[in-house]
Amino acid sequence: MRASDVPDVVDAVVRDQRIANEANHCIDARVDRDTLTDSFRRRPTPTWVARDTTRLRGHLTAATLTRPSGHVSAWISPDAVSFDDPATLGALYAAAGAEWLAGGVDDHQAWVYDRPDAREPWVELGFALRFRRGSLDLSMHDVADWPPDYDLRRGTLGDLDLSMHFNRLLDDEEHAGPTFARPEPLSREETEETLEEPETIFVVVEQHGTPVAQCIAFPLLPVRGAHPRTLHLSAVVVEPSYRGRGVATAMLDRILAEARQSGFEFADVTWRTANLGAAAFWSAYGVTPTYVRLQRRIDRD
Ligand SMILES: CC(C)(COP(=O)(O)OP(=O)(O)OC[C@H]1O[C@@H](n2cnc3c(N)ncnc32)[C@H](O)[C@@H]1OP(=O)(O)O)[C@@H](O)C(=O)NCCC(=O)NCCS
Repeated sequence: MRASDVPDVVDAVVRDQRIANEANHCIDARVDRDTLTDSFRRRPTPTWVARDTTRLRGHLTAATLTRPSGHVSAWISPDAVSFDDPATLGALYAAAGAEWLAGGVDDHQAWVYDRPDAREPWVELGFALRFRRGSLDLSMHDVADWPPDYDLRRGTLGDLDLSMHFNRLLDDEEHAGPTFARPEPLSREETEETLEEPETIFVVVEQHGTPVAQCIAFPLLPVRGAHPRTLHLSAVVVEPSYRGRGVATAMLDRILAEARQSGFEFADVTWRTANLGAAAFWSAYGVTPTYVRLQRRIDRD
Protein backbone atom coordinates (compact mmCIF):
# COMPACT_ATOMS: atom_id res chain seq x y z
CA MET A 1 0.00 0.00 0.00
CA ARG A 2 1.25 3.48 -0.87
CA ALA A 3 0.28 6.61 1.06
CA SER A 4 -1.90 7.55 -1.93
CA ASP A 5 -3.97 4.35 -1.43
CA VAL A 6 -4.99 5.26 2.12
CA PRO A 7 -8.08 7.41 1.25
CA ASP A 8 -9.47 4.61 -0.97
CA VAL A 9 -8.87 2.00 1.74
CA VAL A 10 -10.61 4.21 4.31
CA ASP A 11 -13.53 4.70 1.86
CA ALA A 12 -13.81 0.90 1.50
CA VAL A 13 -13.92 0.39 5.28
CA VAL A 14 -16.53 3.15 5.72
CA ARG A 15 -18.64 1.72 2.84
CA ASP A 16 -18.51 -1.84 4.25
CA GLN A 17 -19.47 -0.62 7.72
CA ARG A 18 -22.46 1.24 6.25
CA ILE A 19 -23.55 -1.86 4.30
CA ALA A 20 -23.24 -3.95 7.48
CA ASN A 21 -25.38 -1.46 9.40
CA GLU A 22 -28.02 -1.38 6.66
CA ALA A 23 -28.25 -5.20 6.78
CA ASN A 24 -28.24 -5.34 10.60
CA HIS A 25 -28.89 -2.28 12.76
CA CYS A 26 -27.16 -3.98 15.74
CA ILE A 27 -23.91 -3.13 13.94
CA ASP A 28 -22.95 0.51 14.45
CA ALA A 29 -22.18 2.34 11.19
CA ARG A 30 -19.85 4.89 12.74
CA VAL A 31 -16.23 5.01 11.64
CA ASP A 32 -13.97 7.90 12.60
CA ARG A 33 -12.26 8.62 9.28
CA ASP A 34 -9.42 10.66 10.76
CA THR A 35 -8.49 8.02 13.32
CA LEU A 36 -8.70 5.27 10.73
CA THR A 37 -6.61 7.24 8.22
CA ASP A 38 -4.02 7.84 10.90
CA SER A 39 -3.96 4.17 11.89
CA PHE A 40 -3.41 3.04 8.27
CA ARG A 41 -0.63 5.61 7.86
CA ARG A 42 1.12 4.45 11.03
CA ARG A 43 0.56 0.68 10.83
CA PRO A 44 3.70 -1.18 11.83
CA THR A 45 2.68 -4.12 9.60
CA PRO A 46 2.23 -3.88 5.83
CA THR A 47 -1.13 -3.55 4.05
CA TRP A 48 -1.64 -5.16 0.63
CA VAL A 49 -3.97 -3.57 -1.89
CA ALA A 50 -5.51 -4.85 -5.11
CA ARG A 51 -6.27 -2.25 -7.78
CA ASP A 52 -7.33 -2.22 -11.38
CA THR A 53 -6.61 0.74 -13.61
CA THR A 54 -9.44 2.80 -12.15
CA ARG A 55 -10.05 1.83 -8.57
CA LEU A 56 -9.29 -0.13 -5.42
CA ARG A 57 -10.56 -3.73 -5.55
CA GLY A 58 -9.59 -4.69 -2.00
CA HIS A 59 -7.09 -4.50 0.83
CA LEU A 60 -5.72 -6.82 3.50
CA THR A 61 -3.58 -6.38 6.57
CA ALA A 62 -3.19 -7.99 10.01
CA ALA A 63 -1.80 -7.28 13.43
CA THR A 64 0.56 -9.90 14.80
CA LEU A 65 -0.08 -10.85 18.42
CA THR A 66 1.88 -13.18 20.67
CA ARG A 67 -0.21 -15.35 22.98
CA PRO A 68 0.92 -16.26 26.52
CA SER A 69 1.93 -19.67 25.07
CA GLY A 70 4.42 -17.86 22.82
CA HIS A 71 2.46 -18.71 19.67
CA VAL A 72 2.26 -15.76 17.25
CA SER A 73 -0.99 -15.20 15.31
CA ALA A 74 -1.99 -12.82 12.53
CA TRP A 75 -5.25 -11.04 13.44
CA ILE A 76 -7.41 -9.61 10.70
CA SER A 77 -10.00 -7.18 12.08
CA PRO A 78 -13.10 -6.07 10.14
CA ASP A 79 -11.24 -2.87 9.16
CA ALA A 80 -8.30 -4.88 7.90
CA VAL A 81 -9.96 -6.34 4.83
CA SER A 82 -12.18 -5.45 1.89
CA PHE A 83 -12.68 -7.25 -1.42
CA ASP A 84 -14.89 -6.92 -4.48
CA ASP A 85 -14.97 -10.66 -5.13
CA PRO A 86 -13.54 -13.92 -3.74
CA ALA A 87 -10.73 -14.01 -6.33
CA THR A 88 -9.47 -10.63 -5.09
CA LEU A 89 -9.47 -11.90 -1.52
CA GLY A 90 -7.57 -14.99 -2.72
CA ALA A 91 -4.92 -12.86 -4.41
CA LEU A 92 -4.55 -10.58 -1.38
CA TYR A 93 -4.32 -13.53 1.03
CA ALA A 94 -1.77 -15.29 -1.21
CA ALA A 95 0.53 -12.27 -0.93
CA ALA A 96 -0.09 -11.39 2.72
CA GLY A 97 -0.22 -15.00 3.95
CA ALA A 98 3.08 -15.83 2.26
CA GLU A 99 4.76 -12.99 4.14
CA TRP A 100 3.16 -13.99 7.45
CA LEU A 101 4.31 -17.59 6.93
CA ALA A 102 7.82 -16.45 6.03
CA GLY A 103 7.86 -14.69 9.42
CA GLY A 104 6.78 -17.92 11.16
CA VAL A 105 3.14 -16.87 11.65
CA ASP A 106 1.07 -19.92 10.72
CA ASP A 107 -2.06 -19.11 12.75
CA HIS A 108 -4.36 -16.71 10.88
CA GLN A 109 -7.52 -15.33 12.52
CA ALA A 110 -10.15 -13.12 10.92
CA TRP A 111 -13.13 -11.30 12.48
CA VAL A 112 -15.55 -10.65 9.63
CA TYR A 113 -19.20 -9.65 9.18
CA ASP A 114 -21.48 -12.64 9.71
CA ARG A 115 -22.97 -12.53 6.21
CA PRO A 116 -22.49 -15.24 3.58
CA ASP A 117 -20.83 -12.84 1.11
CA ALA A 118 -18.33 -11.68 3.75
CA ARG A 119 -17.78 -15.05 5.45
CA GLU A 120 -17.90 -17.76 2.78
CA PRO A 121 -14.91 -16.62 0.68
CA TRP A 122 -12.76 -17.20 3.80
CA VAL A 123 -14.25 -20.67 4.28
CA GLU A 124 -13.35 -21.50 0.67
CA LEU A 125 -9.76 -20.52 1.50
CA GLY A 126 -9.66 -23.10 4.30
CA PHE A 127 -10.67 -20.94 7.25
CA ALA A 128 -13.07 -22.48 9.78
CA LEU A 129 -15.69 -20.87 12.02
CA ARG A 130 -14.59 -20.59 15.64
CA PHE A 131 -16.58 -17.83 17.38
CA ARG A 132 -19.72 -15.87 16.69
CA ARG A 133 -20.59 -12.45 18.13
CA GLY A 134 -24.16 -11.26 18.46
CA SER A 135 -26.13 -8.32 19.81
CA LEU A 136 -29.50 -7.54 21.31
CA ASP A 137 -31.30 -4.23 20.91
CA LEU A 138 -32.54 -3.67 24.47
CA SER A 139 -35.40 -1.43 23.32
CA MET A 140 -36.91 -4.40 21.48
CA HIS A 141 -36.42 -7.06 24.13
CA ASP A 142 -39.35 -8.67 26.01
CA VAL A 143 -38.96 -9.78 29.61
CA ALA A 144 -40.21 -13.21 30.79
CA ASP A 145 -41.84 -13.76 34.20
CA TRP A 146 -39.46 -14.42 37.09
CA PRO A 147 -39.61 -18.15 37.97
CA PRO A 148 -41.04 -18.82 41.46
CA ASP A 149 -38.63 -20.18 44.12
CA TYR A 150 -35.57 -18.46 42.58
CA ASP A 151 -33.78 -15.36 43.86
CA LEU A 152 -31.33 -13.10 42.12
CA ARG A 153 -28.65 -11.21 44.01
CA ARG A 154 -25.52 -9.22 43.26
CA GLY A 155 -22.41 -11.35 43.76
CA THR A 156 -19.55 -10.01 45.88
CA LEU A 157 -15.85 -10.78 46.25
CA GLY A 158 -16.95 -13.34 48.86
CA ASP A 159 -18.37 -15.29 45.91
CA LEU A 160 -14.97 -15.61 44.21
CA ASP A 161 -14.80 -19.40 44.77
CA LEU A 162 -18.36 -19.75 43.47
CA SER A 163 -17.49 -17.77 40.35
CA MET A 164 -14.37 -19.89 39.80
CA HIS A 165 -16.62 -22.97 40.05
CA PHE A 166 -18.99 -21.66 37.37
CA ASN A 167 -16.06 -20.62 35.14
CA ARG A 168 -14.59 -24.15 35.45
CA LEU A 169 -17.96 -25.66 34.53
CA LEU A 170 -17.93 -23.67 31.30
CA ASP A 171 -14.27 -24.51 30.54
CA ASP A 172 -14.80 -28.23 31.24
CA GLU A 173 -17.86 -28.34 29.00
CA GLU A 174 -16.04 -26.59 26.18
CA HIS A 175 -13.03 -28.85 26.64
CA ALA A 176 -15.31 -31.83 25.94
CA GLY A 177 -16.75 -32.55 22.52
CA PRO A 178 -18.03 -31.39 20.18
CA THR A 179 -16.21 -28.16 21.02
CA PHE A 180 -12.84 -29.76 22.00
CA ALA A 181 -11.58 -26.32 22.95
CA ARG A 182 -8.47 -25.70 25.01
CA PRO A 183 -9.54 -22.52 26.78
CA GLU A 184 -6.87 -20.75 28.80
CA PRO A 185 -8.68 -20.76 32.18
CA LEU A 186 -9.11 -17.41 33.89
CA SER A 187 -6.86 -17.31 36.94
CA ARG A 188 -8.18 -16.50 40.41
CA GLU A 189 -6.38 -13.16 40.22
CA GLU A 190 -7.95 -12.26 36.86
CA THR A 191 -11.42 -13.23 38.09
CA GLU A 192 -10.89 -11.24 41.29
CA GLU A 193 -9.79 -8.22 39.26
CA THR A 194 -12.93 -8.43 37.09
CA LEU A 195 -15.24 -8.77 40.07
CA GLU A 196 -13.55 -5.83 41.82
CA GLU A 197 -14.11 -3.48 38.86
CA PRO A 198 -16.79 -0.97 39.93
CA GLU A 199 -18.53 -1.29 36.55
CA THR A 200 -18.77 -5.09 36.65
CA ILE A 201 -22.26 -6.53 37.11
CA PHE A 202 -21.83 -9.90 38.82
CA VAL A 203 -25.09 -11.71 39.40
CA VAL A 204 -25.88 -15.00 41.14
CA VAL A 205 -29.20 -16.85 40.95
CA GLU A 206 -30.13 -19.07 43.89
CA GLN A 207 -32.88 -21.55 44.63
CA HIS A 208 -33.61 -21.79 48.38
CA GLY A 209 -30.11 -20.44 49.07
CA THR A 210 -28.33 -22.84 46.65
CA PRO A 211 -26.42 -21.00 43.88
CA VAL A 212 -27.58 -22.28 40.50
CA ALA A 213 -26.37 -19.72 37.94
CA GLN A 214 -24.10 -16.74 37.36
CA CYS A 215 -23.50 -14.00 34.83
CA ILE A 216 -20.67 -11.48 34.72
CA ALA A 217 -21.32 -8.40 32.59
CA PHE A 218 -19.45 -5.16 31.99
CA PRO A 219 -19.52 -2.20 29.59
CA LEU A 220 -18.01 -3.21 26.26
CA LEU A 221 -14.83 -1.32 25.44
CA PRO A 222 -15.02 0.62 22.15
CA VAL A 223 -14.75 -1.88 19.32
CA ARG A 224 -15.62 -1.47 15.63
CA GLY A 225 -19.29 -2.16 14.98
CA ALA A 226 -20.46 -2.04 18.60
CA HIS A 227 -22.79 0.78 19.65
CA PRO A 228 -21.31 3.02 22.37
CA ARG A 229 -23.67 2.01 25.22
CA THR A 230 -23.28 -1.76 24.95
CA LEU A 231 -23.19 -4.21 27.86
CA HIS A 232 -20.95 -7.23 27.29
CA LEU A 233 -22.34 -10.48 28.72
CA SER A 234 -19.88 -13.17 29.76
CA ALA A 235 -19.61 -16.27 31.94
CA VAL A 236 -23.33 -17.11 31.65
CA VAL A 237 -23.47 -20.52 33.30
CA VAL A 238 -26.30 -22.58 34.85
CA GLU A 239 -25.68 -25.68 37.02
CA PRO A 240 -26.33 -28.69 34.75
CA SER A 241 -29.22 -30.06 36.84
CA TYR A 242 -31.02 -26.69 36.70
CA ARG A 243 -30.85 -26.24 32.92
CA GLY A 244 -33.87 -26.16 30.64
CA ARG A 245 -36.06 -24.44 33.25
CA GLY A 246 -35.74 -20.87 32.03
CA VAL A 247 -33.11 -19.87 34.64
CA ALA A 248 -30.67 -18.26 32.18
CA THR A 249 -33.51 -16.49 30.38
CA ALA A 250 -34.91 -15.04 33.60
CA MET A 251 -31.45 -14.04 34.89
CA LEU A 252 -30.56 -12.21 31.66
CA ASP A 253 -33.97 -10.55 31.46
CA ARG A 254 -33.40 -9.04 34.90
CA ILE A 255 -29.85 -7.92 34.14
CA LEU A 256 -30.83 -6.38 30.81
CA ALA A 257 -33.94 -4.63 32.16
CA GLU A 258 -31.76 -2.96 34.83
CA ALA A 259 -29.01 -2.25 32.30
CA ARG A 260 -31.52 -0.50 30.05
CA GLN A 261 -32.71 1.64 32.96
CA SER A 262 -29.12 2.69 33.62
CA GLY A 263 -28.58 3.78 30.01
CA PHE A 264 -27.34 0.73 28.08
CA GLU A 265 -28.92 0.36 24.64
CA PHE A 266 -27.44 -2.91 23.39
CA ALA A 267 -26.04 -6.14 24.82
CA ASP A 268 -23.28 -8.10 23.16
CA VAL A 269 -22.07 -11.69 23.59
CA THR A 270 -19.51 -14.00 21.97
CA TRP A 271 -19.71 -17.80 21.92
CA ARG A 272 -17.85 -20.70 20.35
CA THR A 273 -19.76 -21.90 17.30
CA ALA A 274 -19.15 -25.54 18.28
CA ASN A 275 -20.81 -24.95 21.68
CA LEU A 276 -24.15 -25.96 20.23
CA GLY A 277 -26.04 -25.51 23.52
CA ALA A 278 -24.83 -21.92 23.82
CA ALA A 279 -25.56 -21.26 20.12
CA ALA A 280 -29.12 -22.60 20.48
CA PHE A 281 -29.65 -20.64 23.69
CA TRP A 282 -28.46 -17.28 22.29
CA SER A 283 -30.53 -17.78 19.15
CA ALA A 284 -33.63 -18.61 21.23
CA TYR A 285 -32.89 -15.57 23.39
CA GLY A 286 -33.15 -13.32 20.34
CA VAL A 287 -29.49 -12.42 19.81
CA THR A 288 -28.75 -11.24 16.24
CA PRO A 289 -25.40 -12.50 14.92
CA THR A 290 -23.05 -9.68 13.91
CA TYR A 291 -19.51 -11.00 13.35
CA VAL A 292 -17.74 -14.37 13.14
CA ARG A 293 -14.17 -15.23 13.95
CA LEU A 294 -12.57 -17.64 11.51
CA GLN A 295 -9.25 -19.37 11.90
CA ARG A 296 -6.78 -21.08 9.61
CA ARG A 297 -3.76 -22.85 11.02
CA ILE A 298 -1.35 -23.87 8.30
CA ASP A 299 0.36 -27.20 8.85
CA ARG A 300 3.79 -27.04 7.22
CA ASP A 301 5.00 -30.56 8.04
C1 LIG B 1 -26.50 -22.07 27.75
C2 LIG B 1 -27.11 -22.12 29.18
C3 LIG B 1 -26.62 -20.91 29.94
C4 LIG B 1 -28.63 -22.08 29.04
O1 LIG B 1 -29.19 -22.04 30.34
P1 LIG B 1 -30.70 -22.56 30.64
O2 LIG B 1 -31.11 -22.02 31.96
O3 LIG B 1 -30.74 -24.01 30.46
O4 LIG B 1 -31.50 -21.86 29.46
P2 LIG B 1 -33.10 -21.62 29.39
O5 LIG B 1 -33.78 -22.71 30.12
O6 LIG B 1 -33.39 -20.22 29.80
O7 LIG B 1 -33.30 -21.80 27.81
C5 LIG B 1 -34.10 -20.96 27.02
C6 LIG B 1 -34.20 -21.54 25.62
O8 LIG B 1 -32.90 -21.66 25.03
C7 LIG B 1 -32.83 -22.83 24.20
N1 LIG B 1 -31.79 -23.72 24.76
C8 LIG B 1 -31.15 -23.57 25.95
N2 LIG B 1 -30.21 -24.55 26.08
C9 LIG B 1 -30.28 -25.32 24.98
C10 LIG B 1 -29.58 -26.48 24.53
N3 LIG B 1 -28.60 -27.05 25.25
N4 LIG B 1 -29.91 -27.02 23.33
C11 LIG B 1 -30.89 -26.48 22.58
N5 LIG B 1 -31.60 -25.37 22.95
C12 LIG B 1 -31.28 -24.81 24.13
C13 LIG B 1 -34.20 -23.47 24.25
O9 LIG B 1 -34.94 -22.96 23.15
C14 LIG B 1 -34.75 -22.94 25.56
O10 LIG B 1 -36.15 -22.84 25.56
P3 LIG B 1 -37.07 -24.15 25.87
O11 LIG B 1 -36.46 -24.79 27.09
O12 LIG B 1 -38.40 -23.56 26.08
O13 LIG B 1 -36.94 -24.99 24.66
C15 LIG B 1 -26.72 -23.43 29.91
O14 LIG B 1 -27.01 -24.54 29.06
C16 LIG B 1 -25.28 -23.51 30.32
O15 LIG B 1 -24.90 -23.13 31.41
N6 LIG B 1 -24.40 -24.08 29.43
C17 LIG B 1 -22.99 -24.25 29.72
C18 LIG B 1 -22.26 -22.93 29.79
C19 LIG B 1 -22.34 -22.18 28.48
O16 LIG B 1 -22.10 -22.73 27.42
N7 LIG B 1 -22.65 -20.88 28.58
C20 LIG B 1 -22.73 -19.99 27.43
C21 LIG B 1 -21.41 -19.36 27.27
S1 LIG B 1 -21.39 -18.27 25.87
